[in-house]
Amino acid sequence: MVGITSLTDKDRIFTNLYGFQSPELKAAQARGDWDKTAELMKLGQDKIIDIVKESGLRGRGGAGFPTGMKWSFMPKEPTPGRPNFLVINADESEPGSCKDREILRHDPHKLVEGALLAGFAMRARAGYIYVRGEFIVETEALRKAVAEAYAAGLIGKNAAGSGYDFDLFVHRGAGAYICGEETAMLESLEGKPGKPRLKPPFPAGAGLYGCPTTVNNVESIAVVPTILRRGAEWFKSFGREGNAGTKLFQISGHVNKPTVVEEAMSIPFRELIDKHAGGIRGGWDNLLAVIPGGSSVPLVPAAEIADAPMDFDGLKALGSGLGTAAVIVMDKSTDIVRAISRISYFYKHESCGQCTPCREGTGWMWRVMEKLRTGDAHVSTIDQLYDVTKQVEGHTICALGDAAAWPIQGLIRHFRPELERRIAERHGHIAEAAE
Ligand code: NAI
Ligand code: SF4
Repeated sequence: MVGITSLTDKDRIFTNLYGFQSPELKAAQARGDWDKTAELMKLGQDKIIDIVKESGLRGRGGAGFPTGMKWSFMPKEPTPGRPNFLVINADESEPGSCKDREILRHDPHKLVEGALLAGFAMRARAGYIYVRGEFIVETEALRKAVAEAYAAGLIGKNAAGSGYDFDLFVHRGAGAYICGEETAMLESLEGKPGKPRLKPPFPAGAGLYGCPTTVNNVESIAVVPTILRRGAEWFKSFGREGNAGTKLFQISGHVNKPTVVEEAMSIPFRELIDKHAGGIRGGWDNLLAVIPGGSSVPLVPAAEIADAPMDFDGLKALGSGLGTAAVIVMDKSTDIVRAISRISYFYKHESCGQCTPCREGTGWMWRVMEKLRTGDAHVSTIDQLYDVTKQVEGHTICALGDAAAWPIQGLIRHFRPELERRIAERHGHIAEAAE
């Protein structure tokens, strides 16, 4: 089933995405936030979880895990001394991703109200919003929104007049990418170095301070009030089956007008770019490749992406992924090997170092990528590199190992002739020099 794949203004959840209006409480209320929140809570905790399940909302942080299902893993009757916690991941650091930043700056009350509703549904009395260390303006805007909500009685004791007590804390990180990994985030919140934990147990079983915890992305939480107000069917009317809803797409790179835009899931790539980003720089014939979901997912070459539906399943079918929907567009002026090598350097730099395949593998893969960039390698090096990415993938504690392996695999899969050309050219130069 294909639903609506193109939004009109009236369909948009984030009505202040570009900050044309004030982010403050009064203006947010005029836009519909905090409207009869206690009435929504009267639906009851299980009903709210059911509506979120029914809406088809999948996690917007990159992995796409069904949000309502995640909430349903939380104990319905927390045991004394083991409270349930909500943790909101605002540590947006994936290269290319810049959507949560816009919510925090311009529409923070959507997140604060969403936190109350989500916290209530999962029987949490406290929520923590972990904000990326570099997000100074965003943290200030969020802290202000939280303070406004407390002052207006919308959170805290008897939140929004619902009879439910809910506290919300804003915690700023210190700039480590790995703290966006959910269990590293929990370690960091506990005051320890941000090193991921082995899963299982998943946070719903043992999370913050060993207590049941749900970690959700900013966008996932911020859309919840609107889903509850407009209904699951409304949200589900956008996108293809299994890929429901509206989504913030972040379009960067070689387009005429880079932007962040809320669109329907499953919008075809070409329509997304032409409608919102002013087309590809130099025209569609000038497109080389696209990284459709942030630096962790493999690139897709121009010919394959043009008509692809921008959703979880559509991009998975192309050997890539929707990830955070951070769409990085590269035209034919791009040195594609250098671009992927730079991404490899990023993962080497951000590895927390606690597991060997990632600690040693990311550095090795980057060094070999640099050799391939200059052509200072043998053709067999390409296969050796591919084998090593397969040794890293799936053999590490967290997904950073996979994220380091996948972009290289995508490059080899789609641009092997370019790698071979560089090697041949370099060897040609060496032979010439020797003559
Ligand atoms: P994951 O697939 O391991 O988990 C996704 C979520 O589902 C987690 O909250 C996990 O606890 C939960 N979950 C999965 N299986 C479960 C089970 N059997 N029982 C209970 N809960 C379960 O993915 P992960 O490692 O959390 O995220 C990886 C993604 O993060 C990547 O695909 C990447 O796109 C994205 N990412 C986003 C960044 C950003 O800045 N937003 C930064 C880096 C990566
Ligand atoms: Fe740390 Fe890398 Fe292992 Fe993740 S995969 S735990 S970042 S060493």
